[in-house]
Amino acid sequence: MVLQRKSDVIVIGAGAAGMMCAIRAAQRGRSVVVLDHAKSPGEKIRISGGGRCNFTNIHAGPKSFLSANPHFCKSALARFTPSDFIAMVDRHRIAWHEKTLGQLFCDDSAKDIIHMLLDEMRAAGATLHLRTEIGDVERSSDGFRVSTSEGAYECSSLVIATGGKSIPKMGATGFAYRIAEQFDLPLVETRPGLVPLTLDQATLENLSELSGISAPAEIRHGKTGFREALLFTHRGLSGPAILQISSFWREGDDITVDIEPDVDLFEHLKAAKKTNGRQSAQTALGEILPKRLAQYLTERAGIAGHMADLSDKALLRLADAAQNWKIKPSGSEGYRTAEVTLGGIDTAALDSRTMQAKSVSGLYFIGECVDVTGWLGGYNFQWAWASGFAAGESL
Ligand code: FDA
Repeated sequence: MVLQRKSDVIVIGAGAAGMMCAIRAAQRGRSVVVLDHAKSPGEKIRISGGGRCNFTNIHAGPKSFLSANPHFCKSALARFTPSDFIAMVDRHRIAWHEKTLGQLFCDDSAKDIIHMLLDEMRAAGATLHLRTEIGDVERSSDGFRVSTSEGAYECSSLVIATGGKSIPKMGATGFAYRIAEQFDLPLVETRPGLVPLTLDQATLENLSELSGISAPAEIRHGKTGFREALLFTHRGLSGPAILQISSFWREGDDITVDIEPDVDLFEHLKAAKKTNGRQSAQTALGEILPKRLAQYLTERAGIAGHMADLSDKALLRLADAAQNWKIKPSGSEGYRTAEVTLGGIDTAALDSRTMQAKSVSGLYFIGECVDVTGWLGGYNFQWAWASGFAAGESL
């Protein structure tokens, strides 16, 4: 028997954005069905923030988002703020803390956020169908018809909340882009974002002894820079500072690494030369940097001998090797490990207040599939909550 279900709203994708949208629409009295091919909802929430979900950032504002139209995200972000999400978290008595840089994490488990969203959906009366493969999506006389492995569903408003392409192993499909193409909506080219950068074989071999070392750094690309930890890995470069800059970096570009950006290494080396001239440059540098890194940089700068014998020019060369270090990544680890997908549904095709497609009445796109991508640090979930809420308010 073929199932026929009719509702006001169908949300495809039970991730962060889809569940928030379903909650708001159901609270407003809409009949809402959420469909997902996965066996559990909110899988990316579950693995996020090392299992503790960095669920928002108290500094979330338009400047922390990348998009072809940097103004597009303003309306939704203003109408559902980090405080609004914190209020929901507090209502559910989920303990949280600020880790650093405004990033809020659960004290216990990311699963608390999933349970909260499911409880809210249930309380509002939204229905969730998991393990449901989506087939064709068609226009019907009064909305949309969605064919699925569990039969056909009909609705007046259809919300696409299926995320981006990152981590295909977890069920990312690019479904949203297919639907956009079907309805002639433009796309901004997609790229992996918040992703480790890789190095060519020769550079990797050069840096092999640094694998596992982490240091505070500022990583710059053009005028953009991020101060967080840098991690050398056996594939290349990672750590929050690299993930941040990866969203700005393009193939063929250099990045500039400034290790220990809060310390003026040239001044440190000059002072060390004065106070302890018999010390080696490597030892002096190793007072600030991890020892293996100090050794590598001293060798790379071609510096040997006692501090007392080194000219200021040589000390500047050594400081520069650490604080003005140009590296050309060969690529990125790609969607396999990227936390987000840059690009997506062109915001020019959507109404920024409602997330509705301007040319297809009743069709909405929310969350990561839209060309709005946040920095690392809770910004992407804030966009998912805010865009989901904006659509839920209007449909
Ligand atoms: P999301 O991907 O969450 O949900 C999409 C849903 O659609 C999924 O349930 C999926 O199964 C379903 N779906 C996909 N294709 C389908 C199809 N064809 N048919 C049916 N269903 C389909 N962000 C942040 O702010 N703080 C953090 O701590 C982290 N940490 C983090 C860690 C890791 C490892 C990753 C990969 C990502 C993060 N992120 C993050 C990013 C964050 O997870 C991401 O931005 C949001 O989950 C996006 O929410 P969406 O609801 O748009 O998509």
